[in-house]
Amino acid sequence: MQDTLPLAAAPFRPKVPPPLTRPLGLFAFLKAARENPIGTWMKAHFEEFVVAGETAMGRVTVVSDPALVRYLFVENAANYRKDDLQKRVLAPGLGNGLLTAEGDEWRLQRRTLAPIFSARQVAGFTRPMDAAGARLAKRLARRDGARVDMAQEMTRATLDVLERTIFTQGLPGDPDALGRAITRLLESVGPIDPLDVFGVPGFVPRIGRLRARPALRFFAEVVDTLLDGRKAAIARGEAPHDLMTLLLNAQDPETGRGLSDLEVKANIVTFIAAGHETTANALTWALYCLSQDAPAQERLAAEAEAALDEASGTMALDQLPFARAVMEETMRLFPPVPFMSRQALRDDRIGRIKIPRNSTVIVAPWVMHRHRRLWDEPDAFLPERFLGERREAMARYSYLPFGAGPRVCIGQSFSLQEATLVLAHVARAVHLILPADHPPVTPLHRVTLRPKDGLRMVVRRRG
Ligand code: HEM
Repeated sequence: MQDTLPLAAAPFRPKVPPPLTRPLGLFAFLKAARENPIGTWMKAHFEEFVVAGETAMGRVTVVSDPALVRYLFVENAANYRKDDLQKRVLAPGLGNGLLTAEGDEWRLQRRTLAPIFSARQVAGFTRPMDAAGARLAKRLARRDGARVDMAQEMTRATLDVLERTIFTQGLPGDPDALGRAITRLLESVGPIDPLDVFGVPGFVPRIGRLRARPALRFFAEVVDTLLDGRKAAIARGEAPHDLMTLLLNAQDPETGRGLSDLEVKANIVTFIAAGHETTANALTWALYCLSQDAPAQERLAAEAEAALDEASGTMALDQLPFARAVMEETMRLFPPVPFMSRQALRDDRIGRIKIPRNSTVIVAPWVMHRHRRLWDEPDAFLPERFLGERREAMARYSYLPFGAGPRVCIGQSFSLQEATLVLAHVARAVHLILPADHPPVTPLHRVTLRPKDGLRMVVRRRG
């Protein structure tokens, strides 16, 4: 056990579906996986470092040992590609963008986009992120005493950030409509379809994908509008230096190849969806945890008050260590991407376990972050874990909200910086109360992890 904590008197322990003690039969498993995959994990997954077995998807090995995760994602990453199931679920919505591409296609896209996410560039995004947080805080303060849909507010704030950072000329249309289209898309493609589990070819229609069509059409229009506008701006020599210009000007240094229109479009959708939905969910969960932990909520409000420059209304990012720790602890308990899966290209061995060619390997932050052998008080909300020496002593590969290795989230620093600032602004502006008649706040896994029945909180303006 690498994490030793002095125990808080009564830390908050969010209620989540309990692990199963016995494996489900095939049909019960498929039903549960479709409804909410979070409910299909077994007790053994949270107690053993490697659990291998035959499932509906063939042989699946769930790996939770940090050393073995490192082997899988870093040392022998070349032997593992994103698996077909993941692609069948994501590709209809996201096309062949950075999240789903492989090989040379992926390398060119990653190299092209890396400059926007460099440490220097992300530091330069502090001001627009801070401004988005301030706008959100103002909106909330105006609604003193009202019940506010916080999931929707977090979506608005993260779309606002995207529009002022990587899509600098804004996103067309109504931001709420865009937020709803993304939720609808994930809601439709998110449930795991049995046809995908059994590898039925893609031309056989899936109900989820049929339901996703209106959202996909909406996206296609948004993307076409963006692309046409930008091509014209490039032709006039007036294009800003942002994600879209980089995509359109991409060139492989060896082959001179650029990105096709399809690849550019796929990346626009990928970055709109991956760039805000995950962060919005992480923020929503953080607000929920804070509403149940009064001392943490007050500590954060005081830190944010001290970090705020009254004259300019800006927050000093480097004075928000607790806000950052709250975000990190929230993503431990509610990782926005609950699991990652890979397919072995060749036979391999992970520790003493054989990994046959084509079999699936899963690394699940949901499991690892609550693993009995990796954490003290695994189910308790204790942001202090992520402060000072304790944070530094944490084993690198036991905490993986952003994945690891070459396919690690390209937006990692971007989103952590954004979430820290936005959270601080909210905590400083309002006190958050979860009304007693709110339905239980439980996680629903639909590609990302969000509260099943939303989060409508009463906000009380501070000071
Ligand atoms: C709390 C926020 C976020 C979380 C928890 C998160 C999580 C992840 C994870 C776990 C992966 C790796 C998936 C795998 O290995 O199979 C990933 C990849 C990715 N993320 Fe994020 N992400 C977040 C925010 C963002 C943001 C803000 C952006 C863009 C602005 C973004 C864009 C991407 C992209 C494009 C990839 C694919 C990278 C590649 O394969 O080269 N993400 N993310």
